Amino acid sequence: MAAKIRDVRHGTGVQGQVSQSRWLRRTGAARLEFGADYNPEQWPREVWDDDARAMRTAGVTIVTLGVFSWALLEPAEGEYDFGWLDDAMDLMHVNGIAVDLATATASPPPWLTTKHPEILPVTADGVTLWPGGRQQWRPTSAVFRTHALRLTRAMAERYGGHPALVAWHVSNELGCHNIYDYSDDAAAAFRLWLRERYATLDALNAAWATAFWSQHLSAWEQVLPPRTAASFPNPTQQLDFKRFSSDALKDHLRAERAVLREVTPDVPVTTNFMVMGETKGMNYADWAAEVDFVSNDHYVQPGPQGRDELSFSANLTGGLAGGRPWFLMEHSTSAVNWQPVNVAKRPGELARDSMTHVAYGADAVCYFQWRQSAAGAEKYHSGMIPHAGEDSTLFRAVADLGKRLGDLAPLAGTPRTPARAAILFDWESWWAAEADSHPTDRLRYRQEALDWYTAFLDLGVRADVLPVAAPLDGYDLVVAPILHVVPASLASRLTAFVQAGGHLVATYFSGVVDENDHVWLGGYPGPLRDLLGIRIEEFAPLLDDERVTLDNGSTGTLWTDRIDVSTEDVEVLARYTTGDQAGRPAVTWNPTAGGAAGYVSTRLGPQGLATVLGEFLSRAGIESELPPDQRGKVELAIRGDFHFLINRTDEPIDLGGYLLAADGVVVVRE
Ligand code: GAL
Repeated sequence: MAAKIRDVRHGTGVQGQVSQSRWLRRTGAARLEFGADYNPEQWPREVWDDDARAMRTAGVTIVTLGVFSWALLEPAEGEYDFGWLDDAMDLMHVNGIAVDLATATASPPPWLTTKHPEILPVTADGVTLWPGGRQQWRPTSAVFRTHALRLTRAMAERYGGHPALVAWHVSNELGCHNIYDYSDDAAAAFRLWLRERYATLDALNAAWATAFWSQHLSAWEQVLPPRTAASFPNPTQQLDFKRFSSDALKDHLRAERAVLREVTPDVPVTTNFMVMGETKGMNYADWAAEVDFVSNDHYVQPGPQGRDELSFSANLTGGLAGGRPWFLMEHSTSAVNWQPVNVAKRPGELARDSMTHVAYGADAVCYFQWRQSAAGAEKYHSGMIPHAGEDSTLFRAVADLGKRLGDLAPLAGTPRTPARAAILFDWESWWAAEADSHPTDRLRYRQEALDWYTAFLDLGVRADVLPVAAPLDGYDLVVAPILHVVPASLASRLTAFVQAGGHLVATYFSGVVDENDHVWLGGYPGPLRDLLGIRIEEFAPLLDDERVTLDNGSTGTLWTDRIDVSTEDVEVLARYTTGDQAGRPAVTWNPTAGGAAGYVSTRLGPQGLATVLGEFLSRAGIESELPPDQRGKVELAIRGDFHFLINRTDEPIDLGGYLLAADGVVVVRE
């Protein structure tokens, strides 16, 4: 890479043409936003002026206000107390800080849950989730909806013209605690949703395969959410309930958005997604089109793949945003409060984490929260100002980052530069593959996808993480880990991709069921059989302590398949040498007209995957864009002219004259 390295941490910034990010249109500024959730209501008024001053010191450009303010904004039904929020909004404005204003509907106030306990969610076991925490509302409650929309309207009317307002923030992390509600409201709404999907009871009976276990439904009233049952609830009922639950919250988002667009048509609307870890209830691929710009919250999970998981999530968020810039609404400066052990970030990690999000398209870097709470359940969650105050290593690191992001203003609005390889991510396969009554309950969809991502990083090759419906043109290699649910239309799309010269790789338990979770018959993997040139008669999952070896030196766990290759053209890239499948194919490659399709039948983990991926990449003609000595150690992400080099190791790396610190990220402008 012929590049002059510029250390933007100390540089004067770079100049260039940028397009303006959508949420900035009211401020007219082209910059990377920097800020946090700001909860002034937790502090005496005199602290607020100090907050504003310290925000300016830190380079804060935007705050989110009002996320959990309902009880203070509407202390009694229909009676509003906006005075304090007016004051906070004005204070931000006079200090040049923009506001992403929450609709404040995330957590209903005690008066509402006391008057209307019928809005409280109910678990699959019939347990009511009581007030005292947060987000205690049923997505399908008409009563809740009425109250939430009334507040949304009041907020829009009050603040729509405020000069600090740049975006609306609908509710907060929709579905964080209330994604699955099994109440009677949910049952009624589920029936309506099913009527829309299937139209007739016959069609529903067919889709749910109710001939099984005496489940035939003879009236719509008999349909229920999959409440805790005597045995495994119907699998398609479970899958449809997941779809319905995601849609129910999406419907809430749309309902608040409709009010906001009616009252303030010029103010963009977002809601913060949770593309992170095992949060899987909301199908964000389906939600992304509902917001004016995609926002995400991300918290690092400790562990060997913690950094890669952050990168994966940021990359997928970029994929949801269609490659355009997006808004990092929350992450943490240091420890959180909700993991079993809440690890503090090491020096350098704060900036490294934030900059990795920027590398994958974030045009805003915001934290939860501005000032660490002194009381409440989140008092041990870090903030931009820690308990120790401004005279702290953490606050200095925050202010350094603010300066660095200021220098990177010319980056704002630059979309990511597509890679030549991609990993497909599919919420429905995630849901269906991890359902009960399967060959193994040990399978982890997202972990398999993450392992592939780590393998790409280990080889120094960029890969975009894309929702499964994304266009695949331009990609030379597409990996589809555990693509379990393959409707006929998806099979055709993948086949067309290969016929057009693309290289597709699928893994174990892919192509097994259709959209109704019905098995494709005639041998696995159903509609991908011809494309892959293999036929599997039986799955052969492994026990926890079982390992199998492959003749390429790797070790498989979790799963094996009994594979027969269908034609002589199919190359066996690796065979099992131990276990019940010894001598049979483990990894295959089928060159077909146009491109080729490969299959990996066991869980290889990042290291084993790097071996087979290296082979797939060379067959697809893809090489690392990094010099050989940096591959695996340095992570590369590209946004137009801006190349981000991220140190994946705990040691400094010599980039040829420039020493990239451990935890360091450098931005190079080509
Ligand atoms: C998010 C939430 C924030 C805060 C944060 C703590 O789930 O939106 O309000 O609770 O987690 O990590």
